[in-house]
Amino acid sequence: MRAIAVEGYGAPPLAVTLPRPEPGPGEILVKLVAAGVNPVDWKIADGAFKDAMPASFPLVLGTDGAGVVAGIGPGVTRFAVGEQIFGRFGDAERGVGSYAEYAVVREDAPLAAMPAGMIYTQAAAVPTATGTAFALVDTARVDAGQVVLVVGATGGVGQAAVQYAADMGAHVIATARDDMIDEMKRLGAAETIDHTAGDLSARLLADHPDGIDAILDVVGSRDEVTELAGLLKTGGVYLSTIGSVPDDLTAERELRGENVHAEITSELLERIAEMIDAARIRVAVHREVALGEAPVAIAAARLGGSRGKTVIRI
Ligand SMILES: NC(=O)c1ccc[n+]([C@@H]2O[C@H](COP(=O)([O-])OP(=O)(O)OC[C@H]3O[C@@H](n4cnc5c(N)ncnc54)[C@H](OP(=O)(O)O)[C@@H]3O)[C@@H](O)[C@H]2O)c1
Repeated sequence: MRAIAVEGYGAPPLAVTLPRPEPGPGEILVKLVAAGVNPVDWKIADGAFKDAMPASFPLVLGTDGAGVVAGIGPGVTRFAVGEQIFGRFGDAERGVGSYAEYAVVREDAPLAAMPAGMIYTQAAAVPTATGTAFALVDTARVDAGQVVLVVGATGGVGQAAVQYAADMGAHVIATARDDMIDEMKRLGAAETIDHTAGDLSARLLADHPDGIDAILDVVGSRDEVTELAGLLKTGGVYLSTIGSVPDDLTAERELRGENVHAEITSELLERIAEMIDAARIRVAVHREVALGEAPVAIAAARLGGSRGKTVIRI
């Protein structure tokens, strides 16, 4: 089968041919039709998590995917051949990833049936980004009428967080450069603020002198978090997806701070699928590339400037 893999930590991703895997007991074989690209894909390949998550090589890149069940191992009861599913396929320890024609995955992995009417490229864009966005909004306990700032709102996680927080009835402020203002409003942001136009915190304070209830941040450094946390109301919450919330944040004004490691479960994916089906959440695929173009797409994504999800057609 064709796949995109690395031969060692930090090695360049290359198009390779590997044997088609066979499902073992409790496993399913999935013929992938699309794979979603996430920053975690190259962080794993770079060895960023090698102490916590050992890998074997060649390591097929990719976590998120969508496809058709093509085979089932002994004892599988949850899925049948021919079902269309989406979810998370990455298993670095076994060298398995979603940037491949086939992946073998345990039947109890974070997987869900594709909603009717959803196409594979959209489904593959969902698991990590939308799942993390839901984890952020749920952990923050966002409620109707609250003022919620999403920092990094124009990327994969941010766009979904804006939509879900707006769906909960929050007044959402989304960071966005000029080219994304209209799109962020379409996704439900009540207002946008350009994070490149100088003193973000002073401009937010001028616009929101009563403060902000929750800040959902996917990009800010520890210093930026400390500064923006000054905008929170007493009892406000600051969440980071990149570990930037300092331990002592909560000592101040009863703030709640947390570095979120999103747990993406099958149940969460099913809940998201229902909301997509009900047109409450939209999946915006910004860029589609062929499998062979994945190394170039990864190189481009590493440079930043994401405008939403990149998806690989397999
Ligand atoms: N902890 C977890 O469980 C978890 C789960 C998922 C993702 N993550 C992490 O969360 C981060 C975001 O993921 P993603 O998929 O959303 O990434 P992404 O698609 O690359 O989006 C990042 C967005 O942030 C914008 N941005 C960059 N610097 C900014 C700044 N200073 N202020 C405001 N916006 C800024 C970028 O646009 P411009 O460059 O144009 O500004 C881009 O639109 C990644 O580091 C990822 O690894 C963690």
